[in-house]
Amino acid sequence: MDKIIINGGKPLHGEVVISGAKNAVLPIMTACIIEPGQYTLNNVPNLRDTRTMGQLIEMIGGTVKFQNNTMILDTLNCDKPIAPYELVKTMRASFYVLGPFMGRYKYAEVSLPGGCAWGPRPVDFHLKALEAMGAKISLEKGNLISKGELSGADINFEKVSVGATGNTLMAAVKANGYTNIKNAACEPEITDLVDFLNNLGSDIKGKGTKSLKISGKSKLKNSLEFSIIPDRIEAGTFLIAVALTGGEVTLKNVNYKHLETLISKLRDTGVRIEYDSSSITIYSNGKITPVDLKTAVYPGFPTDLQAQWIALMCMANGNSTVTDEIYHDRFTHVAELKRFGAKINLNDNVASIKGVKKLIGAPVMSTDIRASASLIIAALAAENKSEISRIYHIDRGYEKIEYKLKSLGAQIERV
Ligand code: EPZ
Repeated sequence: MDKIIINGGKPLHGEVVISGAKNAVLPIMTACIIEPGQYTLNNVPNLRDTRTMGQLIEMIGGTVKFQNNTMILDTLNCDKPIAPYELVKTMRASFYVLGPFMGRYKYAEVSLPGGCAWGPRPVDFHLKALEAMGAKISLEKGNLISKGELSGADINFEKVSVGATGNTLMAAVKANGYTNIKNAACEPEITDLVDFLNNLGSDIKGKGTKSLKISGKSKLKNSLEFSIIPDRIEAGTFLIAVALTGGEVTLKNVNYKHLETLISKLRDTGVRIEYDSSSITIYSNGKITPVDLKTAVYPGFPTDLQAQWIALMCMANGNSTVTDEIYHDRFTHVAELKRFGAKINLNDNVASIKGVKKLIGAPVMSTDIRASASLIIAALAAENKSEISRIYHIDRGYEKIEYKLKSLGAQIERV
């Protein structure tokens, strides 16, 4: 089992290139199933999750060639609309095949995703939307069986859901008639999916807003070359790391527009941030003013940066509170951060942090992608040696993270 060893307490300096967005490329990969064809995706991050999604597409009969961050998918011979438990349980995003399977085969057999590291992750919104479009869905031995010709419908999500918006879009682009989605997710990753589908010949209006209008088509194009947007969560993770360790780092291949809330919150802590159309530079002296925050759907503060923000607040000069309104139980990183000497109190979905002067390195354990990122950030600022185990979690969402951090001067090794 791989571990990461970090000798912390050093500022970070230099330049780092941010990879493509994991949460944009995963639904775009399954969108390549909707119409049998050949697709080239550029700026694809080489991660456990993108490789797992590639395996899933090969399991259903497609071929996937993936090298140097370019992925060539051929879905001409896909003929098994089945996503089995042993795969779905390793990556919930496999559930994104549901909409495409229904669009192409009018049939889907997809394992009902279980929980994840921090608690239940229901998919009821996905199922209600597909049933409104005419799908008949039953549960048999843990597998969802969905059948039927889909027709456009009016969908009004009671809560914003990235995944449910993605699946509904991919089901609607070949449904008969119009689909109106209200309270849609407008995360940049969903906007990238809308761009991909429209480049395929779909007719989706309202991009970037909470209300999307889709006019179903009988046929879409069967080939396309497309570049994935930069990963705002990877970029945010690096910005928070530099804020805590101190130093001066420039991120390349980023879109600051996707990070405006984080940038504003980081400026409130006292760091300096400048940006242009494709890069962001942060200057920090490591002295952090405490800043409270609540996570929210885009363009609010992303829940995927909540764990990293708590790590930053651990060494602020004062007290702060961090509230996760999206996932009330996404705090498995708190117990591990306390092993570094952090002073954190948890009450339901509110973490109250008392800033301490220093953190001391310790052995800690990763529990999920973003919790792992939070522990790496704390270890980079902590004195002496830290050892982070179960880092297969970090490899799901961060490409070559130890190389990128080493190039910025961190003392980090994978063993
Ligand atoms: C996506 O998950 C991301 N994953 C998550 O990132 C991210 O944390 C999440 O969106 C929120 O931004 C991918 O894009 C692959 P949701 P998703 O549906 O789609 C509730 C990472 O670290 N809900 O927007 O599963 C749900 O419980 C991962 O990269 C229902 O109740 O999230 C949550 O409270 C972790 N019923 C809220 O909605 C449903 O049917 C938002 O979930 C669906 C969701």
